[in-house]
Amino acid sequence: MSKRVAIFISGGGSNMVALATAMRAPEFGAIPALVLANNAGAGGLQKAAAMGIATEVVDHRPFKGDRPAFEAALLAALVPHNIDIICLAGFMRVLTPLFINKWRGKMLNIHPSLLPKYKGLHTHQRAIDAGDRMGGVSVHEVTAELDGGPLLAQIKVPITLGETAETLAAKVLEQEHLLYPKVLKTFVNR
Ligand code: GRF
Repeated sequence: MSKRVAIFISGGGSNMVALATAMRAPEFGAIPALVLANNAGAGGLQKAAAMGIATEVVDHRPFKGDRPAFEAALLAALVPHNIDIICLAGFMRVLTPLFINKWRGKMLNIHPSLLPKYKGLHTHQRAIDAGDRMGGVSVHEVTAELDGGPLLAQIKVPITLGETAETLAAKVLEQEHLLYPKVLKTFVNR
C-alpha cells in the first residue's frame, strides 16, 4: 500500500514538484496526498493543483504567535488526508515539540547547508563568508532541535571563486531536487 505523503511549503515549491514528480513512478511506494502551505500566496499551491494534488492552507498569521494553536490547526488539516509521512520543503515556520513529537520518525526536512554547519537562515552567504570550499544540502529527520535531527543524506557543492549566495543557492537547489526524492524513496521503503 503506497504511503501517503504531505509536503509542507511556504514558497515556490520547487522541491515539492521534484518530490511529486518522482512519486509518479509506480515502484516509488508513496503518493503526494497533500500539499500544505502556511500562506495562500505560496506559488507552490498552484503548481500542486496543476498536478492534481490536494492542497490546504493554514495561515499562521491569525494565530499571532500562538504556536500551539497554529500547530493544532496544522494537525487538524492533516486528518482528512490520512497522511503517513510529512516532508518539509521550504516550510519557513519553526515547529515545536507539540507537533514534532506526534510525527517523530515520520517527518523529513531539507536544509541548504552541510549540517551541522549553518543551521537556520542565510546558509549560503555564511558559508561563503567563512571561506568554505564546499556548500551543499542535507536531508534529515525532524526532531525538536531546529535543523538538528538524524542526517539521512548530503550532497556537497563546490564554492568557486567569486561565488555569490545567489549562484551557490541555484547550484544547491538543483542538487536538492535530485537528493530529496532519492532520500524519500529510501525512507518510504526502509
Ligand atoms: C530550498 O532552498 C530549501 O533548501 C529551503 O527552502 C528552499 C525551498 O525552495 N528549505 P522551494 O520552495 O522548494 O523552491
